[in-house]
Amino acid sequence: MPTALITGGHSGIGYSCARHIASHYKWDLVLAGRSPEKMEQAAENLRREAGVKVITLALDTSSLASVRAAAAQCTSMLDTGEVVSLDALLCNAGGRFDGPLKYSEDGYEVTFAGNCLGHFLLACLLEAHMAPAGRIIFTASGTHNPDTIDGKMVGAVVEPDALLLANTGKNGSKPISAGKRYSTSKLCNILNAYELHRRLRRSGSSVAVIAFDPGSTPETGFLRAMPGPVQWLAKTGFMTWLSRRLGVTMGSVGFSGASLARLAADPAFGGSSGKYLQSNDGRLIETRSSTLSYDEDKATRLWAQMEALARLQPEETRLSASQLTRG
Ligand SMILES: NC(=O)c1ccc[n+]([C@@H]2O[C@H](COP(=O)([O-])OP(=O)(O)OC[C@H]3O[C@@H](n4cnc5c(N)ncnc54)[C@H](OP(=O)(O)O)[C@@H]3O)[C@@H](O)[C@H]2O)c1
Repeated sequence: MPTALITGGHSGIGYSCARHIASHYKWDLVLAGRSPEKMEQAAENLRREAGVKVITLALDTSSLASVRAAAAQCTSMLDTGEVVSLDALLCNAGGRFDGPLKYSEDGYEVTFAGNCLGHFLLACLLEAHMAPAGRIIFTASGTHNPDTIDGKMVGAVVEPDALLLANTGKNGSKPISAGKRYSTSKLCNILNAYELHRRLRRSGSSVAVIAFDPGSTPETGFLRAMPGPVQWLAKTGFMTWLSRRLGVTMGSVGFSGASLARLAADPAFGGSSGKYLQSNDGRLIETRSSTLSYDEDKATRLWAQMEALARLQPEETRLSASQLTRG
């Protein structure tokens, strides 16, 4: 049975996607996350509703050790046949982390560590174990584009420099704001998605890589770190009306989740590798991401920084520059 592994698949857009994959495509699921009780509850609902196999997997995307342990468990399940094939890897978990700066157990700022670095490492560790026509999807955000209202409202991106992002606020340096940390983590996800696509093609792999913007989706837990009145206001009809008037990319938890499921499983998106797909007001469209996101020099530099921060070993990947040159 085809299987999709989804990070943060027990809530919000991830859960909506998981429900769609299970009920519409009848695929098995691996829900990977850091909240075991919520994950088990979601898994039970999915098993009951759709009758598919649902496995839960402990994963904190902000911890390199946790990512390595989850990847090892996933490959072991593939070896034993508990997971028959890995057909989609959905790098969906993430959030905006307001309040005092926090650093992961590896010493990296948590927005960058959890939204970006952990998913980079997970994709590097699992890509070689995926089905030949498998798909890796990175959930990005329209906020990565400073030329759009989404990007302007949240905070325009800073330079996609992984060292700067991982170490922001350290040694007396001025911290990058929460909005900018978020939008830049999503820009890095897109740069990494496009670079992964190029490297997979050079390595001979046919696994597809897609970047996805679910659109502004206030019904989820996304704004949970915001003050109560901000969360309340974001969910009102007035705010939806205003956002539309301003030209914000609009999602909904149902449509955006179903869109992510289609990118994972619908044959129509088999040729979408290296592309940016957006859920916007009830339409799933291929569109262009920001100008900066297509800068291949920046993507190459970012990849090297990510490899160093993730302490990626040569035996863990076949995609580092030296290996691809040799190949
Ligand atoms: N909602 C929007 O307007 C919007 C717009 C554009 C993009 N997005 C993106 O869409 C994705 C899904 O967000 P959502 O809106 O569905 O919000 P959500 O309801 O808050 O879901 C986020 C999920 O990510 C998980 N997560 C966060 N940090 C994690 C970590 N370090 N390790 C493991 N799991 C972690 C959360 O798990 P816990 O329950 O354990 O916290 C939760 O399951 C995110 O990447 C977000 O950036 C959202």
